[in-house]
Amino acid sequence: MEQVSPEVVSPTGCPVSALGQSFDPFTDRFQADPYAIFEEARRDEPVLYSPGTGAFVVTRYDDVAAVMKDPETFSASNVVDFVVPPCAAAMEKLMAARFVPGPVTVNEDDPEHRPHRDVLRRAFSKERLAELEPMIRGWVADYVDKFVKKGEADLVLDYMWEIPALAAFYLIGVPDSEVARVKQFAVQRAELNFGRPSEERQVQLAEEFGEFWEWCMWHVDTLWENPNSSFMSEMIELAKEPEYSEILDRTYIYRMCMNLLFAGHETTTNGAGNAFVGLLTNIDQWQRLVDDPSLTKNAADETLRYLSAAPMWRRRATRDTEIGGVKIPAESQVLVAFGSANRDEAHFPNADQLDVSREDARQHFTFGWGRHKCLGQGLARMEISIAIEELTRRLPHMRLVEGQTFDYAPTIIFRGPKHIMVEWDPTQNPVSADRP
Ligand code: HEM
Repeated sequence: MEQVSPEVVSPTGCPVSALGQSFDPFTDRFQADPYAIFEEARRDEPVLYSPGTGAFVVTRYDDVAAVMKDPETFSASNVVDFVVPPCAAAMEKLMAARFVPGPVTVNEDDPEHRPHRDVLRRAFSKERLAELEPMIRGWVADYVDKFVKKGEADLVLDYMWEIPALAAFYLIGVPDSEVARVKQFAVQRAELNFGRPSEERQVQLAEEFGEFWEWCMWHVDTLWENPNSSFMSEMIELAKEPEYSEILDRTYIYRMCMNLLFAGHETTTNGAGNAFVGLLTNIDQWQRLVDDPSLTKNAADETLRYLSAAPMWRRRATRDTEIGGVKIPAESQVLVAFGSANRDEAHFPNADQLDVSREDARQHFTFGWGRHKCLGQGLARMEISIAIEELTRRLPHMRLVEGQTFDYAPTIIFRGPKHIMVEWDPTQNPVSADRP
């Protein structure tokens, strides 16, 4: 039974409910199934104060929409803040690497945000996505080739671990040989920035974060001198023009490089992992895709709704306000529970069911909403759809290894399985060249 202290009060001075006191994304119960807790919150206390996170948590679809549609009242400035401020020893490591914290588009408000978003938008033009599509198809086919005859695989490590990184690296101009190293940097950054590491672990992570930062500085400096055809190089060339030099200084580009090297693939690896967990634990829906591949694009969105890769996101109240009748004082931290809104019955009928033909699947919040809505959403959708399509075609008889439970890295805003073990009889592979 949870211990509930009557003395715990929210920033408004109101006593915090038992549900609020137990709401903590780092607990085993939350890690195992956040959806049961979200459901309880939507029903009993849709806007609650959680002392564990120091934030008001907003769980209903309409309330989440209200927050996201009002960027003047709900600033994005806290999005990439450290959940646990680094201890002095960890700070020393960051300073030693000359790390400069600061704005990075996703945590900017207008007027600074808009011109940076306009520059970033160029990375995701129709032309660039069209250029990337055949490359993604090629990588996906190559990775399946590596395990298709084996009869077993880990769909995270053997399949969708590196592919989103290859796409993001292409945009950023990072050579493929660096994938494993930078991928590891990104995992550690997630833990330092959005997890709750012990002081000892913080120091270790800060050292690696520092190396990541130094690597980004080195990469940008190299492109500064030797441009290539990547988006990052295009951005650097813009920064050299007088018109852009004020909004794009070199430190901003270092940070942008670091952020894209993180946001551009970690999220998609998680999204694809969630898609396979969703489809393979609802095998009738997997079978529908095997029978009718034209549903795959919609299925990608439906899995992003059903198991969100960004179940919670951050905002900061800029003034005294109210959400769903609950007073929120200025400067409060707010967690918008996208994963909960995505399962709100008031918006999505039969919300707890995965339905690959759901008509309004795209109305989920997993890519955010409004001014900051994810710029990589088209790329992420493409990667996840192609990954599903290739497996439903070449391994339609694939199944989850029985008895496994899924582990998730403990962070406040991201969620995706670390491993997904699957098996099949390779002699039954439908494509003859795929049989042993
Ligand atoms: C399933 C995969 C992904 C998920 C779940 C995801 C999620 C998000 C979320 C929740 C936001 C913030 C939205 C807001 O505050 O309203 C965001 C912003 C952003 N994402 Fe993604 N993302 C994904 C893939 C990508 C990819 C592949 C890239 C780039 C290669 C990318 C680049 C960005 C950028 C640049 C922003 C900042 C936009 C702005 O502030 O104006 N994302 N993403």
